[in-house]
Amino acid sequence: MFEQVSAAPPDPILGLTEAFKTDPRPEKVNLGVGVFQDDEGRTPVLKAVKAAEAALLAAEKTKNYFPIAGEPEFGRKVEEFLFGEAAVPGARTAQTPGGTGALRVAADFFAEISQSRRVWLSDPTWPNHRGVFGAPGLAIQPYPYYDAARRSVNAGALADALDKVPAGDAVVLHLCCHNPTGADLDAEQWKTVSEIAARRGWLPIFDAAYIGFGDSLEADRAPLRPFLDAGVEMLIATSFSKNFGLYRERAGALTLVAPARAADAVFSRIKRVIRVLYSNPPAHGGQIVQTILSDALLRQVWRDELNGMCARIHAMRARFAEGMARRAPDRDFAFIRAQRGMFSFSGISAAHVAWLRSERAIYMTGDGRINVAGLTPQNLDYVCDAVAAALRTERGG
Ligand SMILES: Cc1ncc(COP(=O)(O)O)c(C=O)c1O
Repeated sequence: MFEQVSAAPPDPILGLTEAFKTDPRPEKVNLGVGVFQDDEGRTPVLKAVKAAEAALLAAEKTKNYFPIAGEPEFGRKVEEFLFGEAAVPGARTAQTPGGTGALRVAADFFAEISQSRRVWLSDPTWPNHRGVFGAPGLAIQPYPYYDAARRSVNAGALADALDKVPAGDAVVLHLCCHNPTGADLDAEQWKTVSEIAARRGWLPIFDAAYIGFGDSLEADRAPLRPFLDAGVEMLIATSFSKNFGLYRERAGALTLVAPARAADAVFSRIKRVIRVLYSNPPAHGGQIVQTILSDALLRQVWRDELNGMCARIHAMRARFAEGMARRAPDRDFAFIRAQRGMFSFSGISAAHVAWLRSERAIYMTGDGRINVAGLTPQNLDYVCDAVAAALRTERGG
């Protein structure tokens, strides 16, 4: 049987990391992969995480299974993290293996309850969305999102398209730090989208993978507010991979917001999906998040570290934009400063991307997406010089 099986295509982003690792050139720079890096190019364990782990190790008494949705206290802390202090009566939260796990549970749950079995994804979007939502057989439709010429959200086309999405369909919305473009909606545009969702009756599925990386915890979660205020039902897939630096621990959560009287019944369906997917969540990463969010001191340490990561991203955006303005004044890179999160579409063509990789050992995805957190004070001038040199070549235009 296995003799006939052909190989799967390599994952475009993880494949890039493999190629980067085996590149022998010491000056190499990885702007491809989606992890935060500090000024030294490392992805360290946060101090708050180390302290929480020490406390957990000392206190742990059992490795017994968790409930299907994880511990209720974890859910409460996540809901506070998303909505603030005031409880949302129709909210229920399941601890999941990372943000991807939360998205997959959302996809399977939606496939089970929906008549249309159709989900709308932003164009472009994180490539894995297509795989995750396609897995349970959902039909996938793109909605317009990015205006490449203006390097920002095409809010008019977006609103027009979402106004035509049929009731009962699902729409995946990046809460903040849109991956791959770095272009987010502003408060007014979010309000418009929430009004459309309320009027049309489609289901928003928020992908919240970067809360705290855009402007701040409070600012980045703010788009949820108009949806809550309008009484819109929704699902929120939260990842703690980036904002707690817990990548390999697989910490995430799926939050349901339903009418309060229906919430338990709906949540029981989500639990059934989890039971057949992975039965119950891995404990460690979620317990770290819960420990930090439950302890005022640890919470403050983590907030300071999160703010530090966010500030570094902003600083690198500003310095890259300045560096390019000096070296390639005829090209616009100012938008890099205005965009949010780790990613931006640099506007660099596929041919220039290939040139940067072969001639300068600088790695980015073929669409020109860069992870600005891969920039450091040490490699910034090297990268700016290389991009300017690439733009001067004939290749790619
Ligand atoms: C937009 C988006 N959603 C979800 C995820 C998944 O996060 P996790 O690693 O927690 O599964 C990522 C990770 O890169 C992402 O960029």
